[in-house]
Amino acid sequence: MNPPAPLCRLEDIPDGDAVAARVDAPDGGYELILLRQGGRAFAYHNECPHQGRNLDYAPGRFLVRDGRLICAAHGATFAVDSGDCIAGPCRGSRLVAAPVEVVDGAIVLR
Ligand code: FES
Repeated sequence: MNPPAPLCRLEDIPDGDAVAARVDAPDGGYELILLRQGGRAFAYHNECPHQGRNLDYAPGRFLVRDGRLICAAHGATFAVDSGDCIAGPCRGSRLVAAPVEVVDGAIVLR
């Protein structure tokens, strides 16, 4: 079995920021938000639990500040390291996580 294809290189995400990555699948695939904190990476589906919109303010551009990811639609604020909504209109909900790990500098789905 082939190893999973890398989503991107960790170094391609500025530390403390995020990028989007497309995952192809027979059903059409989906988009992930890939976030970096130092040598760690986190991934969540790009769908806000508030109204199901994408979280980016422009394609692949996200509001990330001080370990928090902010939905551009109505300001729901999520902890980068857990996906928990900690402020805003869907407080108490969470983003859907995708399991990733960093292997030889590449972010891959587990
Ligand atoms: S859709 Fe994200 S805060 Fe409303």
